[in-house]
Amino acid sequence: MSCRRSTILLAGLCLLAVLSAQAESGLSADDLYTVHAPSRDGIGKTYFGREISQVMGHQGAAWLERRTRVVEETPDRVVEGMGLAPDAQVADIGAGTGYFTFRIAEAVPTGRVYAVDVQSEMLEVLHKRIERRAIANATPVLGAEDDPNLPSDSLDAVLLVDAYHEFAYPFEMMQGIRRALRPGGRVFLIEYRGEDPRIPIKPLHKMTQAQAITELEAVGLRWVETLDILPTQHFMVFEEPVEG
Ligand SMILES: C[S@@+](CC[C@H](N)C(=O)[O-])C[C@H]1O[C@@H](n2cnc3c(N)ncnc32)[C@H](O)[C@@H]1O
Repeated sequence: MSCRRSTILLAGLCLLAVLSAQAESGLSADDLYTVHAPSRDGIGKTYFGREISQVMGHQGAAWLERRTRVVEETPDRVVEGMGLAPDAQVADIGAGTGYFTFRIAEAVPTGRVYAVDVQSEMLEVLHKRIERRAIANATPVLGAEDDPNLPSDSLDAVLLVDAYHEFAYPFEMMQGIRRALRPGGRVFLIEYRGEDPRIPIKPLHKMTQAQAITELEAVGLRWVETLDILPTQHFMVFEEPVEG
């Protein structure tokens, strides 16, 4: 089969998968998003009543590596909370500069971490850091806005830190993540607590637990628990259901 034909076939299969997931969840393509005038930090697109945030540009990469972040977000506690096996296959989606990727790589010495981002500039920073530190088990992956571009049925865990609220196509992204997860695989969703007005973060950069559960259960993931282990963020655990 020619490359063009197989690409068309693959695209057709992906579309079918999305449509059948929408049918399964009772959603139609028209139901998913409402388009309107954007607010200051938003993209003018609403999903389950939440306006999607603008993407943090690569120009802000240094902010992700700020010194105070260790205290603000306790990244080691995040990775510890994931309970990864040493040989786990993990994806850090919306990886940015790899603030969490490198910590995960250390936690899975015989496994692998895929660092996915839509900004090639972020991936360039990440790639240079991987080379400089001679990390053998971290792979940068250029994702699309609506697809993490990860192999099917391959992952034990997915980490999303301060990234999900930026997904321009959250339904399609989470479908892609579900495809990449093995049955029983877990999604760890870390977002600033939207219920707490004292947390000095823009409203579109936070999420309530109820909102997150509604959105992730809409694609067929199962909410397992929310751990109270972080200073100002939710640590939410979801699971790819095991059939039968
Ligand atoms: C606020 S940064 C957080 C980066 C990293 N998770 C961290 O905590 O340091 C959000 C990142 O998500 C990425 N992003 C936004 N939409 C994405 C998508 N659909 N797929 C992959 N990455 C995405 C952005 O390019 C950006 O690098």
